[in-house]
Amino acid sequence: MKSKLKIKSKKTTVKRKLFFPSNFWWGAAYASHQVEGNNTNNNWWRWEKQGGAVESSARACDSWHLFRRDHDLAEELGLKAFRLSLEWSRIEPKEGKFNKAAVEHYRTVLKDLKRRNIKTVVTLWHWTLPLWLVDKYGGWHNKNSVNFFVRYCKKVVKELGEEIDLFLILNEPNIPLSKGYLNAEHPPGKRNPWLFWRATKNMIQAYNRCYNETKKIQPSLLTGFTHHVSEFVTLHKFPGAQWLVKKIGDYFNWHFYLKIGGKFDFVGLNYYTGHELQLKKPFSKPRSESVIFSDMGWSFSPRGIYEIIMEAKKKFPQKPIYILENGAADAEDKIRAEYIQGHLKWIYRAIKEGADVRGYFYWSLLDNFEWQAGFGPRFGLCEMDYKTMERKPRKSFYYYQKVIKENGIEAC
Ligand code: BGC
Repeated sequence: MKSKLKIKSKKTTVKRKLFFPSNFWWGAAYASHQVEGNNTNNNWWRWEKQGGAVESSARACDSWHLFRRDHDLAEELGLKAFRLSLEWSRIEPKEGKFNKAAVEHYRTVLKDLKRRNIKTVVTLWHWTLPLWLVDKYGGWHNKNSVNFFVRYCKKVVKELGEEIDLFLILNEPNIPLSKGYLNAEHPPGKRNPWLFWRATKNMIQAYNRCYNETKKIQPSLLTGFTHHVSEFVTLHKFPGAQWLVKKIGDYFNWHFYLKIGGKFDFVGLNYYTGHELQLKKPFSKPRSESVIFSDMGWSFSPRGIYEIIMEAKKKFPQKPIYILENGAADAEDKIRAEYIQGHLKWIYRAIKEGADVRGYFYWSLLDNFEWQAGFGPRFGLCEMDYKTMERKPRKSFYYYQKVIKENGIEAC
């Protein structure tokens, strides 16, 4: 009798792996005011008290005291680099009086990362101004702010430069400028194109001088800034619509870069989402053809990151590129892993097509204070319990850990 042996052909789909360059900087980021807690001496604290945010940043994640716990998590995640920012109002709490203890605090923080073999990416200014400066001069729209900022920068580079691997003079100048001077969502809460223009001019000048001073003090320090970039599209079909949207996108994404005439050692990009522009209110909205939206209502538009990188490559062919922020608010952690994978897929493609992308930083390691929106939006790979200050890794934390360990993703 013939045996009736049935061999079932099992279809195993082996997914292709997309490997990243060796020495790729896998990172995560956060910023002083959003995590440290009790930054009572800056303009954001006051803005919160005046009702500019839904709640006070209060103790935030108490990372001023608990930074070692954050570093434990960074280490567990396998991060190669970590991005944080310095709080100007702690380092220079009174005009011209620098606080030694605050400088030493940051030295300890940076040394602790180095000890763990984690590279340090440090932002000098992530949006907060000391109260003495705003009380006396109002803010960036006042020309005096330039000298003060340059003095602060020199102090930091002299004191801490040796502990820094990548130095960002500014975080996303286009955001505090537009939100602070055009739509009044950030301090100083203006809607004034003239002040916007002046503040932009001063910030560009301050940046240029800081770059020069940094290079004088420590020529080898990789110095630049990181910009908020986005993909802009329109569904309008009228003649000139595409041209107009391109112009708006170019201004938002590249104006600052073009104005600083090559004074940057790398291109820093923060990319989250795409925007659809239209000739009625709201003039800018999330891309309507997207099917996934974060808790902020932002569309999942991963291809945009590729378009932006390829534009950066064309505009600044000699400069390496770092993606210094990318992330999603997702309290239930439903889309975060897919969000990361989706963006990494397009970054991979850009690298394959010759873009010199050296690193990727997820925003953020922890849930934190999301500016005017308060603690509601949750961007963290770790969930924060703001009562107990417990940090709890989400599932997507382990997804990102695997990506880092394997130095790659599965093709999706
Ligand atoms: C900022 C962060 C902010 C994140 C999410 C970026 O524009 O640099 O401070 O939390 O976006 O909105």
